[in-house]
Amino acid sequence: MRKHLFALGGASLMLSVAMLGTMAQEVAPTTPPDPPKFDAQGFPTFVGAKDILEYKALPAYHEPAWVTKNFVDTGKLPPVAERLPKEPMVYLASNMPDGVGVYGDVMRHVIGGRPQGWNYAAGQVQGWGGIDIGMYECLTRTGPLFEIKADELEPLPNLAKSWDWSADGHELTMHLIEGAKWSDGVAFNADDVMFYWDDNINDPNVKPLNSNGPDSFGAGTTLTKVDDNTVKWTFKEAFPKQYLYTMAYGGFCPLPAHLLKPQHPKYSKNTYEQYQNAFPANYLNFPVMGAWTPVEYRPDDIVVLRRNPYYWKVDSEGNQLPYLDELEYKLSTWADRDVQAVAGTGDFSNLEQAESYVEALKKSADPAAPARLAFGARTIGYSIVPNLSGNGWGEPDARGQAVRELNRNLDFRKAITYAIDRQHLGEALVKGPFTAIYPGGLYAGTAYYDKASTVYYPYSVESAKAELEKAGLKDTDGDGVVNFPADQAGGANVEITLLANADYQTDKSLAEGVIASMQAIGIRVIINTVPGSAMTDTQNSGKWDWQVLRNGSELISVVQGTSSLAPTGPQTSPFHRAGTDKTVDLLPYEQEMVDVVNKFIATQEPAARVDLMKQYQKLYTENVNAIGLTQYPGALIINKRFANIPAGAPIFMFNWAEDNIIRERVFVPADKQSDFELHKDTLPGEPGLDKGPVS
Ligand code: GLA
Ligand code: CA
Repeated sequence: MRKHLFALGGASLMLSVAMLGTMAQEVAPTTPPDPPKFDAQGFPTFVGAKDILEYKALPAYHEPAWVTKNFVDTGKLPPVAERLPKEPMVYLASNMPDGVGVYGDVMRHVIGGRPQGWNYAAGQVQGWGGIDIGMYECLTRTGPLFEIKADELEPLPNLAKSWDWSADGHELTMHLIEGAKWSDGVAFNADDVMFYWDDNINDPNVKPLNSNGPDSFGAGTTLTKVDDNTVKWTFKEAFPKQYLYTMAYGGFCPLPAHLLKPQHPKYSKNTYEQYQNAFPANYLNFPVMGAWTPVEYRPDDIVVLRRNPYYWKVDSEGNQLPYLDELEYKLSTWADRDVQAVAGTGDFSNLEQAESYVEALKKSADPAAPARLAFGARTIGYSIVPNLSGNGWGEPDARGQAVRELNRNLDFRKAITYAIDRQHLGEALVKGPFTAIYPGGLYAGTAYYDKASTVYYPYSVESAKAELEKAGLKDTDGDGVVNFPADQAGGANVEITLLANADYQTDKSLAEGVIASMQAIGIRVIINTVPGSAMTDTQNSGKWDWQVLRNGSELISVVQGTSSLAPTGPQTSPFHRAGTDKTVDLLPYEQEMVDVVNKFIATQEPAARVDLMKQYQKLYTENVNAIGLTQYPGALIINKRFANIPAGAPIFMFNWAEDNIIRERVFVPADKQSDFELHKDTLPGEPGLDKGPVS
């Protein structure tokens, strides 16, 4: 019976496709509808960078009493003043929402990811959810920029405490914090920065996690050491201030050269694989510049991180940060992160899987609920990205190559976008005013968005079918699935694999929705779910046809990850990278996008930048560069006992909330402190396999 129905469906489809050739009127593209009204809860207090922090020596420094008593007084650690840099980073009390804090307590995170190990420099995943954000610090910092005044927007200093441009704008000299130490007490200096640049970012066999390669700092850019505390960048462009954003999280977060260098193939007999795996998850007390380092790891159970006794940031009263002595990461699922945060058994969640919204909202509405839940703007968005490489990225077979040719055909991309009922797709995730129709490109509601420059192909199955026919796809054997032209992939049915992250319900729901939409126009899509821990590798391998992609920050902020807006370099685009001959076979519209993005990077003039992003949006959406699906707000869920959570902190903007809320400044007032710490009064011990915290 089923078979019969299916065959019938095929026949009627053939009929309508045939009719379309002569009769169909395509629905004309238009501008997208305005998103439903949805008010963000809480707005940032906008300030300048100088209102947040400075670098300065203070007359005296303090630390938790148990550190002095158990470690300093016993000679295990030098006094705090000697562990801090010459001029620590000082957070001003005036910018702390609840002021100077007190020590103690723990933030209990729950995550769906799993740590592969700690070698972030060689691309290992730490499990996401902010583990890596807590461990590694970067040259600059952008998460907190959500609260910086628009006219002062520039990355915050971090490991680089200041920088100067040469008069011609081609040289950027960066001054590193002086006298700072890794969490094991070894000096941090320019050699760590140079090792990261020379032997990781610039070694073609190594790809730091989240890095888009050396070209994300501009083609031909060099970095040299001036002295122990100074490095100098040289750029082909003048004043490419954009790259200061690339030096923030993801782009330039150095790892300890004293540990990594001896394992690197250039300086040892190791293979690159051995280098990557030299610091597995049970290698503990890994030296970091971040506020906490892992001291315990139990597979599929937990990662516990304890305070870094050499952390180089203090509050304005000289109290060494962080205030929180411990971070916990329970290894569970992302959906469980929401459930536990709402229930109070976890402390933090980025509510981002729309399927959980109604339940989470209901439970949090109770005034006695343990956590606050605050929605932000619509910065969570998804696209279907087509693999646009026609010259061999990921080495496709004949079928795969035929799909790539289709992906590169505008008629085909239009067919896909017309076939998607975005209203329905959004409502299938969550009913209510959350999801908005997202045609692709920059998000509605963000600074550079321009509706008039946004081309939207409304839902129309007839138009989709007409476009398929233009692309030369017909169901030649009448089984309801269109076939490749006879000279491609043997004229077989068009079957496309859709890569999706198995760890997220939303990714899977959207994939299911796309499969159904494609079935309606005679394209067979087969989902390929991959566990999150293997996702980054699969994405980078290029071995996929289409992918459900949770978009990056470049489509929200434009200034963060700018080079990912187009294939400006061999590795910068998430879905069009260099093929076997190391070149990117740009389509004409992509070349135009690259030119626009490069101009954006090269100009500082605000009006020109606005205009360039209008051009970008038009090119992106008219050419269906990727197929936008839905755009919706996320909510930060955080246990009510925490203080110093900045108002209006988005779960995702320049970075994720784990960076945005400045966790090293977050504290729990004395009367609200819990006894949740698992390794109370301990510090990270000596780095090594199966080591642990010490007391
Ligand atoms: C994952 C989660 C996000 C956020 C990031 C931090 O991607 O889904 O909500 O926690 O990790 O890296
Ligand atoms: Ca067929």
